Amino acid sequence: MAKGVAKQRKSRRCLWCIVAIVILGGIAGGIFYVVKKKILDKNSSSTSSLEDKYSDALKIAMQFFDVQKCLVCLLMVAGKLVDDKIPWRGNSGLKDGSEAKLDLSMGMYDAGDNIKFGFPMAFTATVLSWAILEYGEHMEHINQREPAENSLAWITDFLLNAHPSQNVLYIQVGDPKEDHKCWEKPEKMTTKRPLKLVNSSKPGSDVAAETAAALASASLVFKKTDSTYSSTLLKHAKQLFTFADKYKGSYTKSHPEVATYYNSTGYGDELLWAASWLYHATGDTTYLRYVTEENADKYAKVDGPTWFSWDNKLAGAQPGGGMEGGECKRGSPVRTESCLVWMLGVLVQWLREVRKVSIVSASRRGEMGLYRNIFMVLLSRLSFFGDKGAKGNSGIDDYKKSADELMCALLPDSPSATASRTKSGLIWITKWDSLQHPVGSAFLAVLYSDYMRASDNEILSCGDDSFEPSDLRKFAQSQ
Ligand SMILES: *[C@@H]1O[C@H](CO)[C@@H](O)[C@H](O)[C@H]1NC(C)=O
Ligand SMILES: *[C@@H]1O[C@H](CO)[C@@H](O)[C@H](O)[C@H]1NC(C)=O
Repeated sequence: MAKGVAKQRKSRRCLWCIVAIVILGGIAGGIFYVVKKKILDKNSSSTSSLEDKYSDALKIAMQFFDVQKCLVCLLMVAGKLVDDKIPWRGNSGLKDGSEAKLDLSMGMYDAGDNIKFGFPMAFTATVLSWAILEYGEHMEHINQREPAENSLAWITDFLLNAHPSQNVLYIQVGDPKEDHKCWEKPEKMTTKRPLKLVNSSKPGSDVAAETAAALASASLVFKKTDSTYSSTLLKHAKQLFTFADKYKGSYTKSHPEVATYYNSTGYGDELLWAASWLYHATGDTTYLRYVTEENADKYAKVDGPTWFSWDNKLAGAQPGGGMEGGECKRGSPVRTESCLVWMLGVLVQWLREVRKVSIVSASRRGEMGLYRNIFMVLLSRLSFFGDKGAKGNSGIDDYKKSADELMCALLPDSPSATASRTKSGLIWITKWDSLQHPVGSAFLAVLYSDYMRASDNEILSCGDDSFEPSDLRKFAQSQ
């Protein structure tokens, strides 16, 4: 069923593409010319070449997602199938899911291995959605919004198909133990592709809620361009959240063998994260109350910000640790979450250095608005922009306070600055994927500085000191 949806969506989107390309081409060309000319006139040509450099970097960063895709990305462009983006990548995993009569051929491989891990894949989709929602207009400016949306849909199509009924979610394709014995191209793999699922007797609130968050946030991304797809995403998101909340348990308890790869240390944060996104996607205050009243004390550690990261999931063996190269060729040079880190890194730097504009536009305030920190920041959005549903909700203010505290911890000159940084000031938390924390923190700092600016809330108090959005941006740059 979901495959049909995906197909329909693609062909519809393509029809839309052709019409839109013609119309937008004309408009965008004109606007681009004017904007570019203005920039040139104003800031000399260096800004424009800097803009070009960042466009290239973002484009390349975005292509790393394509490398992780399990199928050649067959995009319909003007009625023709094209894929010249990653010429050395071919079809693979075409029969993934067939054991359960499902099509799980989409999605992204984890890293150099050929496993599809649902948990980190869903996390990647959620944060990619967030980046598109907040900064999509700027991505569009250099034609990178569509590639970003395509990569997002590549994951959400997989997640939709992996959720065939209310209380069943397939969370893994492939056997990591077998797979990790040999680095091989996915196009050539011969290992079995067993499936893992969570259901009411083997629950996985963390993975189900993370998937709900991914689908709810993506439903906002596609709301305007493809309302049918958007509604389908939202329907699955709601069902998955109900499933996650009703049958509580950690997926790594239901499947202990998975703990070596992406261990989950608890599911409370994912439930809050999912409910936060569902509130943004639906405006239904039931979700807001879930976060601020019913479960805030139970799950939200509002009195101590922790790090924006997916490191809990990375704890234990990293794919790659202890593997011998031998005769086998590595399938892919990158891991999917690293794509996200690179993409966000370039995005943050580009927005700071070149675009220099306040990014969260007023028109989107009402429409859209963590993991640990991120849901604080996501929820603080409601406080900044005086969301109607959130009015008089003291829980929201607590989240905003926690988000403030987090920012104070990041700022190096604040009295509560974290000591978790190198001598030169780079945020440093763990040796594994050590850049995820600086880049994640930079992303949140830029986002927060934009929330502050766009809401005329320009002072951040840290103890007796006060800081401005520009201080947060300076921190982001320093990372
Ligand atoms: C849940 O899935 C397991 C297989 O992982 C299966 O043995 C069990 O019967 C399923 N439970 C329900 C309620 O369907
Ligand atoms: C996974 O996380 C749980 C809960 O924090 C912990 O008890 C367990 O030791 C971890 N397992 C691995 C393999 O890291």
